[in-house]
Amino acid sequence: MASLTTEINRRRTFAIISHPDAGKTTLTEKLLLFGGAIHVAGAVKSNKIKKTATSDWMEIEKQRGISVATSVMGFNYGDYKINILDTPGHQDFAEDTYRTLTAVDSVIIVVDVAKGVEQQTRKLMEVCRMRNTPVIIFVNKLDREGKDPFDILDELESELKIKVRPLSWPINIGARFKGVYNIYEHGLDLFTPDKQKVTERVEIKDINDPAIDAAVGNADAAKLREDLELIEGVYPEFNELDYLDAKVAPVFFGSALNTFGVKELLDCFVRIAPCPRPTVAEERTVEPGENGFSGFVFKIHANMDPNHRSCIAFVKVCSGVFRRNANYKHIRLGKLMKFSAPTAFMAQRKDVVDEAYPGDIVGLPDNGGTFKIGDTLTEGEELHFKGLPSFSPEMFKYIENTDPMKTKQLNKGIEQLMDEGVAQLFINQFNGRKIIGTVGQLQFEVIQYRLLHEYGAQCRWEPIHLYKACWIESDDKAALEAFKKRKHQFMAIDKEGRDVFLADSGYVLQMAQSDFPKIRFHFTSEF
Ligand code: G4P
Repeated sequence: MASLTTEINRRRTFAIISHPDAGKTTLTEKLLLFGGAIHVAGAVKSNKIKKTATSDWMEIEKQRGISVATSVMGFNYGDYKINILDTPGHQDFAEDTYRTLTAVDSVIIVVDVAKGVEQQTRKLMEVCRMRNTPVIIFVNKLDREGKDPFDILDELESELKIKVRPLSWPINIGARFKGVYNIYEHGLDLFTPDKQKVTERVEIKDINDPAIDAAVGNADAAKLREDLELIEGVYPEFNELDYLDAKVAPVFFGSALNTFGVKELLDCFVRIAPCPRPTVAEERTVEPGENGFSGFVFKIHANMDPNHRSCIAFVKVCSGVFRRNANYKHIRLGKLMKFSAPTAFMAQRKDVVDEAYPGDIVGLPDNGGTFKIGDTLTEGEELHFKGLPSFSPEMFKYIENTDPMKTKQLNKGIEQLMDEGVAQLFINQFNGRKIIGTVGQLQFEVIQYRLLHEYGAQCRWEPIHLYKACWIESDDKAALEAFKKRKHQFMAIDKEGRDVFLADSGYVLQMAQSDFPKIRFHFTSEF
């Protein structure tokens, strides 16, 4: 058996994030092609809900089914074992996306060269920043007209709030796009638009090599030399440790659709991206190389079949070796369990596995609501992994029962969907009404649909005007009570019973913060 250290060192577990349409699905597919996990382009079904389908619920259900298969894509590339964790890619993104980022060791961000940094990328980057996740940026669609590469670099720095360092550089863009100079490896890759074939490389000694002039012409060669000189003058030399500390993001340019610049990205990625990192538990920091197995549930996927409440819990292995049929402790339930049919995700198949290593994701079938997001499994040690925050939702509605005969089903449905992490539930302490908070409009419709189809319960939504929900705490008990009393109409509890303040405007929140200096306001549930 390979040693645990070898297995850890060869693993790269990451997510690709982008604003919809920047090219995440295309890039993922090309990475799978290089890994030999698929053989033709077009084999990866995008799990995004097509732009037009916001009211087509069958489509959502279908997509949910597909996304089990593409949730985790594992493949071997050279000596490396790569695990790509997919993040739901539709316009209205869900908490799922945020949470997946807690299970990765690094991230590749895809940016469209014409559109630059868009809203979702900005938000997802905030999560990466909170967690100090190393990021590599791929500027995509260089075969189309777009912004000037220097402007893109400035935009990345200011919008994503991270220093950048180009490791490749484009020669022209759009119709005149000729290729990319690989700064990291000092090579010149010429662009041949071809959706299947891999890039042609021109061997060169250095930037002054006349082979560059021969390949791209004197004028473009001169411009490239000028650009590179400017880059060397403006950007400090690339330092891997700064990347691993999430202080600098290397930037690559290319065209995913044309498989251009993708191999350069992948080769550099496997070399510099981190292998599984230590995971922080409430009790202590757990090193991946420890002998005892530990892992946590970061995602729960309910089955499509409404007649069986079967789920798959996705567990990220944090330390040791996960083994089939071994006894593990479910810490929250305080119960020993063993799993006879854990699945691993290789390419797009789901296979039963005997062993999994840190960085790997195992799928555990669950028929009885055994797992919740954030649950920890160990060989016995009491550990509670941190890093699964709930984010302050941005959209709120009261949920009302429209079929009094089905109250029980509705309550059960709400509870299970919340455990699955679909949205957040708050109970208003003033009127006892249930409020559902989401990060996207679509989730309300998904919840209503799933309550009906999976639980036979009917609900309707009622508007509530809220700006933000934030968790509050204070070391001063009296101050906390005074706040709750003053704001009693706007106080709620979340599903763990924690105090939540429902601010109805940004101004009210600001005033509350300045009027009650002893209260701490949190915008994620992890503090
Ligand atoms: P997403 O997962 O980030 O949402 O993006 P996706 O890969 O689906 O790409 C969005 C669109 O951009 C797709 O076109 C895709 O073909 C195109 N695209 C991706 N990479 C490149 C590139 O390097 N150059 C160019 N010119 N286009 C690129 P679509 O028409 O929306 O979808 P499809 O019908 O082609 O699948």
